[in-house]
Amino acid sequence: MNILITGGAGFIGSHVVRLFVNKYPEYHIVNLDKLTYAGNLANLKDIEDKPNYTFVKADICDFERMLEIFKQYSIDGVIHLAAESHVDRSIKDPFTFARTNVMGTLSLLQAAKATWDELPERYEGKRFYHISTDEVYGALELTDPQGIESPFATKASSALHHHAYGREYFLETTKYNPHSPYSASKASSDHFVRAFHDTYGLPTIVTNCSNNYGPYQFPEKLIPLFINNIRHGKPLPVYGKGENVRDWLYVVDHARAIDLIFHKGKIAETYNIGGFNEWKNIDLIRVIIKTVDRLLGNAEGTSDHLITYVTDRAGHDLRYAIDSSKLKNELGWEPSLQFEEGIEKTVRWYLDNQEWMDNITSGDYEKYYEEMYSGR
Ligand code: NAD
Ligand code: TYD
Repeated sequence: MNILITGGAGFIGSHVVRLFVNKYPEYHIVNLDKLTYAGNLANLKDIEDKPNYTFVKADICDFERMLEIFKQYSIDGVIHLAAESHVDRSIKDPFTFARTNVMGTLSLLQAAKATWDELPERYEGKRFYHISTDEVYGALELTDPQGIESPFATKASSALHHHAYGREYFLETTKYNPHSPYSASKASSDHFVRAFHDTYGLPTIVTNCSNNYGPYQFPEKLIPLFINNIRHGKPLPVYGKGENVRDWLYVVDHARAIDLIFHKGKIAETYNIGGFNEWKNIDLIRVIIKTVDRLLGNAEGTSDHLITYVTDRAGHDLRYAIDSSKLKNELGWEPSLQFEEGIEKTVRWYLDNQEWMDNITSGDYEKYYEEMYSGR
């Protein structure tokens, strides 16, 4: 199989590329990435010389180029992750999000369709897998912790169920109700993917995943940003009261789910991916501070004073919570890591890979960061 992975130089994409290149030496993995500010080939240093791996720098919005790439590499399967992914950026610059996330996805769909339509076998054995987010479903109510049972059987995940801040969960059937330009653009791309199945019979699959964390995440997102700021003794900007709830999944567990669904998922289906692991931002931030201080050899409480409450994000969604029972029941997926282990591994990784972080946070990023936070 020749598999096109888009956005493979980004956070989640790099984990998916690594998993596929190492696990499937018989596949040819083509990583297509524009290398925006978020794309970084340093994320893939360990696999870049493998014989079953090719990197192509290209923009998914460039339809002619997509056609060329599909033909040149005889692409059989697509795992589409390339996107603009940060909500705060989408608030400042919604056009870029519509362009990449909506028009870019459409250009890829159209290129896949046009290429496969010319083959004698047409869509037989082909697959277009679109990676999306739980943010398309909108926001859930926040109520008192509920003590809802996690459906996961393993010790690793059953320990997580006490973080449940309401009875409602996002199901695959939940109506789309996006609030940010980011989630609106992802919702639109999801609709296009499903429309290509329903209209042309293109073999598509969509998954909607909760917030990911782990190594190689760009430090504009909460967890790597805060780890890095604690290391430098910089303020930790907590939006609003820090009461928003997010459902966190270790990125490698997302990559494992993508592998399983790419191979075993049913065409035209949607699967939600999440670990039943909800955290209020402020509670999560306290865990991060504690872990970084401990691993740096600082006394407990050393960095607590860095917490700084700032103006809330516009339209800040209150709670995201994924019900991933369908994925467990139909394909047997469960997360492999308990959250406490995942956070420990993650903090350790950022502290052990300071050069990776310093390379990103110097230069242009520094200017962007100061601009982003100057008004708060
Ligand atoms: P990221 O921002 O770290 O990486 C995105 C990658 O896409 C970068 O390498 C970038 O260079 C590339 N890219 C951007 N525009 C492009 C274009 N026009 N052409 C080609 N490449 C382009 O994002 P991420 O966090 O790894 O997210 C990957 C995907 O997973 C996205 O589709 C996102 O919506 C989805 N997702 C993310 C999360 C999360 O918590 N990060 C959760 C659920 C779903
Ligand atoms: P983020 O990592 O941007 O992911 P998303 O908005 O896609 O969920 O943010 C996670 C949560 O942390 C979200 O509720 C916003 C909040 N947040 C802060 O409080 N401060 C920050 O500096 C950032 C980046 C996020």
